[in-house]
Amino acid sequence: MRRRAVIEQRRIAVINQKGGVGKTTTTANLGAALARAGAKVLLIDLDPQSHLSLYFGMELAEDQPSIYDVLASGSPVDDALLKVDKHLSILPADIDLAGAEAELVSVTGREVLLREALEPVSDRFDFMLIDCPPALGVLTVNALCAMNEVLIPLQAHFLALQGLGRLLQQTVTLVRQRINPNLTVAGIALCMHDSTTRLAGEVVEDLTGFLEGARGTNVAWAEARVYKTFIRRNIKLAESASFGQSVFDYAPKSNGAIDYERLAIEIFGEHARPAAPRERTKKTVVPPAPAPVATSSKEKAKERVTTPAEPEPATVEPVVSPPIATTTTHAPTGSAPPDPYRHIRITADVQASQPDKISSVS
Ligand SMILES: Nc1ncnc2c1ncn2[C@@H]1O[C@H](COP(=O)(O)OP(=O)(O)OP(=O)(O)O)[C@@H](O)[C@H]1O
Ligand SMILES: [Mg+2]
Repeated sequence: MRRRAVIEQRRIAVINQKGGVGKTTTTANLGAALARAGAKVLLIDLDPQSHLSLYFGMELAEDQPSIYDVLASGSPVDDALLKVDKHLSILPADIDLAGAEAELVSVTGREVLLREALEPVSDRFDFMLIDCPPALGVLTVNALCAMNEVLIPLQAHFLALQGLGRLLQQTVTLVRQRINPNLTVAGIALCMHDSTTRLAGEVVEDLTGFLEGARGTNVAWAEARVYKTFIRRNIKLAESASFGQSVFDYAPKSNGAIDYERLAIEIFGEHARPAAPRERTKKTVVPPAPAPVATSSKEKAKERVTTPAEPEPATVEPVVSPPIATTTTHAPTGSAPPDPYRHIRITADVQASQPDKISSVS
């Protein structure tokens, strides 16, 4: 058995204001990949749709505190934490969170509520990942203030890049300038990807060029990369959510499991490499039968995370920062290709943008 090394904590907000691009699937399975490798992981569901909570079979009882109670009423995070398995905990959400945007609008310091709330439990976890809602409101701003890295899942289709400029040049830049100077964009993960299409290649080229243009500048994405691991479209990923399981438990040999394991290793290095590849994790929260999400068990989701960290059975190595990608699977072409997507190309002219106050994006 390897010995556990000290881990430099990483806190990552998984963000894209575009809906249905793979944020929840990515958060759930990166978290599961880390946990099965022995790292202590906190997943935070910051979406009123509560898809991340449902992903792990958690439908909250009336009296179960959620992230809404943490943000709106100041309930301790400890009271709301639930355990998915030995290494994986979740701060769950429910539909109450839909009211938070409006309720918090007049609260002073509303942007840092989550950061302050996480303080007491922070040193219990090696990694924190937040599943953000498909919007750039006060909840997403809270995620950007509480974390120090941004991961952007993206689907490479015609309109994929449309909102990215706003996300980076306004929201991320504003938060970095005014509240969280440590905030950086770690990278872009291509989800539901079909690398055989010309359009997908064009989008990847465009993204890579945009990120390369930021090297050496002071923007939050100066060292961001397009991850080489593409997440292929794989039905097991969609099914696993319905069964309340990570893809590693539901279909450990599927392309979905293979891709997310590779992506996790690309992002987190050895911290995500399981001692025994694709070994099934021992879950304590597993819906008993193949049931759709709507009927999954509430009861098994009730095990609270109130105990200190347990002795470490698995091991992880020190952080090895991955190098900044200089190539992608789709290398940019030398001569000017026909570019039917020029109108959705991102402009890197951050200086030209005059960001409004944080409140304008919340
Ligand atoms: N690689 C994939 N292959 C097949 N289906 C996928 C894949 N990734 C995600 N899905 C499915 O696509 C849908 C959208 O994915 P997901 O919920 O992760 O996106 P999201 O960005 O979190 O959406 P939202 O913005 O609504 O929160 C889900 O039904 C999910 O199961
Ligand atoms: Mg989601």
